[in-house]
Amino acid sequence: MSSIYILGIETSCDETAVAVCKDGVMLSNIIASQTIHQKYGGVVPELAGRMHIEYIVPTVTQALKEAHCTVQELSAIAYTNGPGLIGSLLVGSEFAKSLSLTLNTPLIAVNHLESHIMANLIDSPKPSFPFLCLTVSGGHTLLTKVLGPLDYEILGRTHDDAVGEAFDKTAKLLGFAYPGGPLIDKCAQGGNPHAFIFPKPKIEGLDFSFSGVKTAVLYFLQKNTLQDTQFIETHKADICASIQYTLIAILLDKLEKAVALTNIKEVCIAGGVSANSGLRKALTNKGIEKKWHTYYPKMEYCTDNAAMVAIYGYYQYLSGRYSTLTTPCFPTGKL
Ligand code: KG4
Ligand code: ZN
Repeated sequence: MSSIYILGIETSCDETAVAVCKDGVMLSNIIASQTIHQKYGGVVPELAGRMHIEYIVPTVTQALKEAHCTVQELSAIAYTNGPGLIGSLLVGSEFAKSLSLTLNTPLIAVNHLESHIMANLIDSPKPSFPFLCLTVSGGHTLLTKVLGPLDYEILGRTHDDAVGEAFDKTAKLLGFAYPGGPLIDKCAQGGNPHAFIFPKPKIEGLDFSFSGVKTAVLYFLQKNTLQDTQFIETHKADICASIQYTLIAILLDKLEKAVALTNIKEVCIAGGVSANSGLRKALTNKGIEKKWHTYYPKMEYCTDNAAMVAIYGYYQYLSGRYSTLTTPCFPTGKL
């Protein structure tokens, strides 16, 4: 049997990303980041769409070149069709459709959140099915029971902010640039996680809530900077470490509950926040303590990337799950 080459294209937000995999092994993974948004303190949708138009052709070209693969060798073209910014999604979608039409190659539309989960299947050791996956990103916090590559059940989700939003919004209160999650992570490394105590939400079951932590941090900073204008600067590392500790404790508490309920001890994390060093360490330690098998994607597969689109596309290709030229993009998405 000849090899299966999948081209993955991800343009759901502000990263133009393209990857190529051969029989499920990643050959290239290129990310063109859009730094233009930094000065605005968040992603500007109109600019993101325009930058994707500029970056898509060179990024695809580079990914194919690094993979030593020609377009004629491609078995299928996988692309993200939602959820995400509609103007951004449309660039990847129209490009993928045009290529598919030109080459007469199958097209595979991929859900962005599902592809984050599938990032755990790129490298070895891989989790075995069924496994639990906590997807933590800028837009979502989702706990799933994954029964097979294309088969999962939702166990819990956030009622308000996503955990990545909680990182980014509290980071903004501390004066950090966007996205603040990685900056809190870095600053927290020199701080005491028990210096300040922030309340945790009391949400039953496996759902999450993060807006309370954000508000608690806001009031805490307002109160303390009123008494001491230098409070943030003096205590920045301790504040970051304490915020990060609180957010991680909320996540791990729900994971522990999910393991107890399902008796599944294969536990993964995925999404941008799974790059957080504190969360990775805490999950590893919890795994050792509770005898779980824990997994997290390589750093480059945590935040938005196309390797996860290519791998998910590969599994969909094996099951013959193709999309068509009329498959739409969707901006907001519930799983
Ligand atoms: O998965 P992702 O790249 O995009 C979405 O699908 O949302 O996630 C982006 C989120 C942002 O909120 C960013 O601050 C957060 O992931 N993030 C981190 C870290 N790296 C990225 N949060 C905490 N610590 C990190 N090291
Ligand atoms: Zn994402």
